[in-house]
Amino acid sequence: MANSRSGDSMTDRIVRVLDTFTNDRTTQTAAEIARRTGLPASSAHRIVGDLAEAGLLERDEEGRVRLGMRLWELALRGSSALRLRQAALPHMERVQAQIREHTQLAVLEHEEALFLERLSHPDAGANITRIAGRLPLHASSSGLVLLAHADPEVRERVLAAPLRAVSSETVTDPAALRTLLAGIRQRGYVVAPGSIEAVSTGVAVPVRDRGEVAAALSVVLPREAPVEPAIAALLRAAEGIGSDLRTMR
Ligand code: PHB
Repeated sequence: MANSRSGDSMTDRIVRVLDTFTNDRTTQTAAEIARRTGLPASSAHRIVGDLAEAGLLERDEEGRVRLGMRLWELALRGSSALRLRQAALPHMERVQAQIREHTQLAVLEHEEALFLERLSHPDAGANITRIAGRLPLHASSSGLVLLAHADPEVRERVLAAPLRAVSSETVTDPAALRTLLAGIRQRGYVVAPGSIEAVSTGVAVPVRDRGEVAAALSVVLPREAPVEPAIAALLRAAEGIGSDLRTMR
């Protein structure tokens, strides 16, 4: 791939352009993209034009662009996330119908919890997770389960980095977190009250794919709700997902 004068490859530049889109910034002009990437305006305009032509970006009537449906189509093709989501959905629906609160499926991605699916109930309480959104590993119930079962190398890297307090109850002391993670591996679930917001308790369990922890399944409960029914429903669902994954390619 040809490199620009500044030495970054065309692939780097395309990734920088795509990376400027976030959950909160879904449409942008080419000029905004140029400013946010630091690319020369002419390069940003050319890359945006090429990506739009290929369907990876879509233009609206005002000339702003958003991530294109084709990108979604390509990303899902044969993706391990889709397989997990397909296996999990019927079980998530059962948890959701029973507990009547938010139910989420998350995977470990670049040292964060990435949410693949979320089911909500109209009467459910507060919840900051979003599909295709991320939460810190140490500050969410799903993240804690994923971190507890991550490669020791990943876990040590996360424990060695500064741990930001998302709420006053986020566990940020590495020694306390290490003990919490060992407890999660031993008990097979986590109850994380107030680790993101004081009003909620996250409850999460590991989902295994042929023995390896592949995802975390969680519910977000109002702080005062009992946790035992949620733990039981999640453990049952995770078992069902693991069993369905065994028969899926
Ligand atoms: C959690 O998983 O611990 C969690 C997630 C979202 C919230 C609250 C808690 O809004």
